[in-house]
Amino acid sequence: MKRKGVVVGITGGIAAYKAAELVRLLVKDRLIVRVAMTRSATRFVTPLTFEALSGNRVVYDMFDQDGTVMDHIRWGQESDLIIIAPATADFIGKMAHGIGDDFLSTCVIAATARILVCPSMNDRMFMNPAVQENLRVLRSRGIAVLEPGQGGLACGAEGPGRLPEPAEILEQARVLLSEKDLFGHKILISAGPTVEPIDPVRYITNRSSGKMGYALARAAVRRGAKVVLVSGPTGLKAPTGVVFCPAKTADEMYRLVFENREGCDIVIKAAAVSDYRPLECAGRKVKKEAESLSLELIRNPDILARLGETKAAFPCILVGFAAETEDLLANAQKKLKAKHLDMIVANDVSRTDAGFETDTNLVKFIYRDGRVEEAPLMTKDEVADLVLNRVRDLSEAGFGHAKGT
Ligand code: CTP
Repeated sequence: MKRKGVVVGITGGIAAYKAAELVRLLVKDRLIVRVAMTRSATRFVTPLTFEALSGNRVVYDMFDQDGTVMDHIRWGQESDLIIIAPATADFIGKMAHGIGDDFLSTCVIAATARILVCPSMNDRMFMNPAVQENLRVLRSRGIAVLEPGQGGLACGAEGPGRLPEPAEILEQARVLLSEKDLFGHKILISAGPTVEPIDPVRYITNRSSGKMGYALARAAVRRGAKVVLVSGPTGLKAPTGVVFCPAKTADEMYRLVFENREGCDIVIKAAAVSDYRPLECAGRKVKKEAESLSLELIRNPDILARLGETKAAFPCILVGFAAETEDLLANAQKKLKAKHLDMIVANDVSRTDAGFETDTNLVKFIYRDGRVEEAPLMTKDEVADLVLNRVRDLSEAGFGHAKGT
């Protein structure tokens, strides 16, 4: 696939140091990154830093373009996205009023690429009506503005004005760069473990980190779908743009999944649901008295199996995950049939580079007609996109609609 191009425009604020990490993340995402800086930005971080990180020449002087005098026109037309991070009040004002007095500001005026502005400044500057009005003007012209974060600012004040973390800016860039091939779909995704209380301080859970389900939710939002994410407790931040439904126990997850399934044409169950829960949850902390202690467990509802049984009334593409330590294919195939799935993503969790708590996964896709597709070791973000590609193919083939289910 053709690599997309991004121009990172850095203006003169203290958060310019965060742009270094942003450039690194964009390059890691296989984007071609070119950096333009204002003169003031070079007082905070040197162009050399960005040259080293992007692997490309950095431009900060309108009249020193290394013989390529039309770069201020070309860059914004050859790229797919311009990210201004950090964007100062001054630069936002220039953009709103069409002022082009240096390389970056003229590049923005001539651009055909989409533009993402990430304001960062003192909270009073940010709340100043002139700045707010300028941001409103930018939004009305189709420029995306990423709201700054709240919190402690470099000047010592507290309030809105912090440049969002580079990972958040990257995610927003991915949203703007993605094809909206899942627009019109509503996807219910479950993620993470469930916890089943033993007493007020103890519980039974499993090693699921939620990373796979969250990667699916982020990718689906990026690709234009409406997403409901029902999640067990994880250490992860709810992705921007999803309807987020936190659950603790399998029972709660069951309730939230069934409350939200209506209108969803795709359901992906990536959660690791506890199969059993303690028969009773003690009202007080269980004290250490006896030499041994047994815990009676009872079965939890199988959410996915129940979704499969009732699929006729709620036509959808139903996708499960199978975490296995042995007989991967045979076990996954059994689950696919028993739970009436359209596809199951089988996952060998005995490996150290795949499954729980890792950033990579080694999966096989198994379909209703018996087809098996093996994917190479990929990051969970890549697996998420591949799962969604296959789900989109199934939908285009008529699955998930009343006639196909
Ligand atoms: N699942 C579910 N509800 C449960 C158990 C599992 O919805 N109570 C779903 C999971 O979200 C996953 C699929 O069923 O998509 C398979 O889960 P997995 O734990 O691999 O298998 P189980 O069916 O629980 O069988 P076993 O634990 O015996 O392997």
